Amino acid sequence: MRSSILLGAVLPFAQAIRIIQSNDDGWAEANARTFFDALDSAGHDVVLSAPAENQSGTGSSDATPTQVGSSGCEFSSCPGGSPPTGANATDPRLNYVNSYPVTSIKNGIDVTGPKLWNGAKPELAVSGPNVGSNVGPGGLFSGTIGAATYAAHTAKIPAIAFSGRTGDPAAWNQPTPKYSKVYADLALNLTTTLIDSGAPYLPDDVFLNVNFGEVSDSTCHDASQFKFIFTRVNTGLLSARDTEWCGATRLPWEVDVIYLRGGCYVTVSAGDASDKSTTDAARQKVVLDKLKPLISCL
Ligand SMILES: *[C@@H]1O[C@H](CO)[C@@H](O)[C@H](O)[C@H]1NC(C)=O
Ligand SMILES: *[C@@H]1O[C@H](CO)[C@@H](O)[C@H](O)[C@H]1NC(C)=O
Ligand SMILES: *[C@@H]1O[C@H](CO)[C@@H](O)[C@H](O)[C@H]1NC(C)=O
Repeated sequence: MRSSILLGAVLPFAQAIRIIQSNDDGWAEANARTFFDALDSAGHDVVLSAPAENQSGTGSSDATPTQVGSSGCEFSSCPGGSPPTGANATDPRLNYVNSYPVTSIKNGIDVTGPKLWNGAKPELAVSGPNVGSNVGPGGLFSGTIGAATYAAHTAKIPAIAFSGRTGDPAAWNQPTPKYSKVYADLALNLTTTLIDSGAPYLPDDVFLNVNFGEVSDSTCHDASQFKFIFTRVNTGLLSARDTEWCGATRLPWEVDVIYLRGGCYVTVSAGDASDKSTTDAARQKVVLDKLKPLISCL
């Protein structure tokens, strides 16, 4: 009794929740596995349900999973001829779905998650971190964003898409790349902040599009060096005003912050999950109020 009270007082998380995770680079990619481990270490009930193969650039495609081809899952993570869906032999929380990112997160939300959570649905969906940035119009083709918008729009589960500019596809069973660790730390920080802000975690039909800037040995090599900036998905040239922030009613464009500014930045855009564009000022404000402990001005 006494020790459990003490334990409760020192654990670093306010609340543990059920989280479904997907991506488009495949279930065995290092970025996804490193973030999975970070969420797990923070005490969350996380289940990974991601494509068996690299499905980069497949947007919101969805199709019934098929038997794995003769070459097996990516990075030899499952044998050729494996069933259309499957789990790691010793950890049932790690699942592949041999189809698109949307199909994989859907299967996780409807089937795999509830099976491991006594029938309950996930409370939050995360996608990525993607290998490579997903900013501006390019996001329309991203399977990582496709999975997040499916969760937020169709399944009505608050969702975050994470992408990191640095890195190449890496297998889960190789030494963890430095950038994977930095991106997992940053993603956990934002996820924890959002959870601590309380449910509902995001307004209806809103997803977060989060991009991490470059990680390098000289600069930006530790999560503590990064600043979180509240941004928008589209340039905003002809759009209605954004919510007021940092003395302006036009938020910075995520593309400018990730590609043109020097510095260690994370962009956070509140996206409309119905069409992957920027959401309106009222819903931006709700998101901003939740994330204020984290967000800086440029
Ligand atoms: C399956 O899980 C075990 C134990 O966590 C791990 O050693 C192994 O690398 C995993 N394999 C895949 C393909 O996930
Ligand atoms: C997946 O394919 C895309 C485009 O062909 C490539 O850029 C990306 O690096 C690949 N990712 C993996 C995990 O192989
Ligand atoms: C999260 O990021 C903020 C802003 O950079 C930082 O002040 C805070 O220490 C970070 N928290 C954790 C747990 O990493």
